[in-house]
Amino acid sequence: MKVLYLGDVVGRSGREAVIARLPELRRQLDLDFVVVNGENAAGGFGLTPAIADDLFAAGTDVIVTGNHVWDNRDILPHFQRERRLLRPDNYPRSAPGRGAAVYDARRGGRVLVVQVMGRVFMDPLDDPFQAVASALSTYPLAGAVHFTLVDIHGEATSEKMAMGHFCDGRASLVAGTHSHVPTADHQILPGGTAYLSDVGMCGDFDSVIGMEKTEPLHRFIRKMSGGGRFTPALGEATVCGVYVESDPKSGLALTVAPLRLGGRLEPVWPVGAMPA
Ligand SMILES: [Fe+2]
Ligand SMILES: [Fe+2]
Repeated sequence: MKVLYLGDVVGRSGREAVIARLPELRRQLDLDFVVVNGENAAGGFGLTPAIADDLFAAGTDVIVTGNHVWDNRDILPHFQRERRLLRPDNYPRSAPGRGAAVYDARRGGRVLVVQVMGRVFMDPLDDPFQAVASALSTYPLAGAVHFTLVDIHGEATSEKMAMGHFCDGRASLVAGTHSHVPTADHQILPGGTAYLSDVGMCGDFDSVIGMEKTEPLHRFIRKMSGGGRFTPALGEATVCGVYVESDPKSGLALTVAPLRLGGRLEPVWPVGAMPA
């Protein structure tokens, strides 16, 4: 299967770039399944039902989130009705929604998507490793599902790498999000799992991780608020993603490659994926 995972969509600039490019990317990369991280899609903080619907209409199969999932309260009831929306699985059991689910890909095949949040420099949630282990054993790769995507939403690359090795041979892709900066360590681990520490954001890189830079700079330099709010930077976004092609039998990765298009970062077309 051919799967694309796009990192945190930040504000209007990120949304517009993803919505404009995704229909063509689906065709060009001949994609079976697309996952998008939407935790910063609404003004940088959370997402709304209308924004989720726009991302689905553009060709997103599943939206994952992260620590900003509840920032926009409008999304809370949507988690009860919209199965294609996930939040970190290691949140308290009483939180709305779910963090792991199996989906039918449009051209056949079943895809398990699991999202967990790291605990290093993040809120102290339940054990993300236990949460992932439980999902992987409930829906084994090459048994119940044909492709397994694990998102580790976290700050520390050490914790993300540990999650990659923990899942090696049991998932098709383990990818990190949350730092908003793409890493260059994409690889297929020894057991056959594709891995990347951070996918990067879909946002304007003339910014501080997607936010207009004046207020963050003020706070870093003076250790006090500049009186402003954090608002997303509005320049053209770079769409950052990771592309994986998996073996139809084993579900393990044959190819892993970054994708970066538009905005300020150097363009990268996934190696191994033929432009149609
Ligand atoms: Fe984010
Ligand atoms: Fe985050």
